[in-house]
Amino acid sequence: MNENDMQIKDAIEYSINVLTLSDSKQIDSEVLLCFVLKCNRTKLYTHSKEELSNQNKNIFKKLVKKRAKGCPIAYITNEKEFWSHKLFVNESTLIPRPETELLVEISIKLIKNHSLNEILELGTGSGAVAIAIASENLDTNIDATDINDEAINVATKNILKHNIKNINFIKSNWFNSIGIKKYDLIITNPPYIETNDPCLTNSDIKFEPIIALASGIDGLDDLRKIISNSHNKLKNNGWLVVEHGHNQGDDVRNLFIKNRFTTTTIKDCNQLERVTYGKLI
Ligand SMILES: C[S@@+](CC[C@H](N)C(=O)[O-])C[C@H]1O[C@@H](n2cnc3c(N)ncnc32)[C@H](O)[C@@H]1O
Repeated sequence: MNENDMQIKDAIEYSINVLTLSDSKQIDSEVLLCFVLKCNRTKLYTHSKEELSNQNKNIFKKLVKKRAKGCPIAYITNEKEFWSHKLFVNESTLIPRPETELLVEISIKLIKNHSLNEILELGTGSGAVAIAIASENLDTNIDATDINDEAINVATKNILKHNIKNINFIKSNWFNSIGIKKYDLIITNPPYIETNDPCLTNSDIKFEPIIALASGIDGLDDLRKIISNSHNKLKNNGWLVVEHGHNQGDDVRNLFIKNRFTTTTIKDCNQLERVTYGKLI
């Protein structure tokens, strides 16, 4: 064997050695290698002595170096799974988080229990939340907004990929360009990180768009705008569901109450307060 040859098992070993700082060296290495070889993870074990072509070896090493600099896997592979849908993502959109599936679960329950049809999602990003809801075959019309043209391009790509017909995208700064329509339900996962939070510069999060993450000194600027303006866009007895930071539950409940909403807060799988919802009364 030539010393430049690289078998599948050597490629994994190489990558693990390069990704010294990653908490997920093994899985990152396997995902990247599967992406380059266009295969599933089982093949890495059943064909561990298969040689990589020179081209694949060079591509793989380049991607491993990118990951070593902190670039999230989802931006390297341009893919992230959410609600069992493979979504296209790039640097103009937030990478959908597993916690946000709770926002979807609660919204679906409300839609079913109260026969809600006209839905508005604010800050759709990759379209993850709107697509998850639309894919449940409920009788809904969804308007989904974002301030960022590039995010709307990505979300449009995703509805075409998943053949979703009942989502209409609107470029809008929160409610500014929504028009006069009123909705049964408003859903949002807005930016809610404090502007000075070191995680915005110290962690892999720094690769994600700041406009999707940071929201003023207490992280509540966008939640304040959304919660205090929602009643103008909701029908009587309409519902509002928001995702927020684990330490923002009290503030968000107070904003709901101040703006004439009932409040219920649900904890995520880590037992952290994550989603608050309420009915306009
Ligand atoms: C936390 S991300 C959520 C993305 C997506 N809904 C998800 O859960 O993966 C917040 C989104 O709000 C958008 N956004 C930020 N400021 C906005 C504004 N003023 N008006 C509308 N959208 C905004 C960002 O571009 C981003 O896509």
